[in-house]
Amino acid sequence: MNFINEEIENYAISKSNRPSQFVKELGEETKANIPMAMMLVGEMEGSLLGFLVRSLKVKRVLEIGTYTGYSALCMAENLPMDGEVITLDIDDELTPLSKKYWGQSPDGNKIKKVIGPALETIPNLEGSFDLVFIDADKQNYLNYLKMVIPRLSEKGIVVVDNVLWSGNVLKAASELEPTDNSTTHIQALNDYVCQSNELYGTLLPIRDGIFLITKT
Ligand SMILES: C[S@@+](CC[C@H](N)C(=O)[O-])C[C@H]1O[C@@H](n2cnc3c(N)ncnc32)[C@H](O)[C@@H]1O
Repeated sequence: MNFINEEIENYAISKSNRPSQFVKELGEETKANIPMAMMLVGEMEGSLLGFLVRSLKVKRVLEIGTYTGYSALCMAENLPMDGEVITLDIDDELTPLSKKYWGQSPDGNKIKKVIGPALETIPNLEGSFDLVFIDADKQNYLNYLKMVIPRLSEKGIVVVDNVLWSGNVLKAASELEPTDNSTTHIQALNDYVCQSNELYGTLLPIRDGIFLITKT
């Protein structure tokens, strides 16, 4: 779901620095051949991630949720040559497709994919991160946030995707579909950030909602 009129969003994209041709082609192949392609962050959010990486002079990125590797490459393209993106996914099936495009891009060698449930792989990672992008299973959103806050560098930020969840975050528990096991977890993360004295958050109504979070 987009919260902004499509024409306005397209105008905003057309005036923004956008991800490269490699990212564009990876997005096109994902949309043509891979189920659930709406999970891609897309050009507007890709541009924002690139802006954050560039303007904060980020060197180390942790991404939770690789999918076909689109957002990982959006961020890698804006890192310095010695920067790195460690991207985590429970699934190895899409790695060959990611590597096809990461391999063509001059920035693809900055990306390292780690396979496994993120709650298990994060504790095994070394060092701190300047930017953590959370975009995986919604049931663990708050767990991921609590896990990565102590791993942020001094200037570090966390970016959390889909925090408006197509507007479902406005619903009371009694209004949610019985099959919906995501909304309450996203609401819990949003409430946690809003109520925390240790975090400073700005929730942007871009695409499906993006929370920018840093330590106070
Ligand atoms: C929304 S997609 C990521 C999209 C990607 N950031 C992009 O825009 O290019 C979510 C991904 O999280 C992964 N995922 C789901 N549960 C996970 C878990 N427990 N640990 C790690 N990854 C998980 C899924 O396999 C899926 O590829």
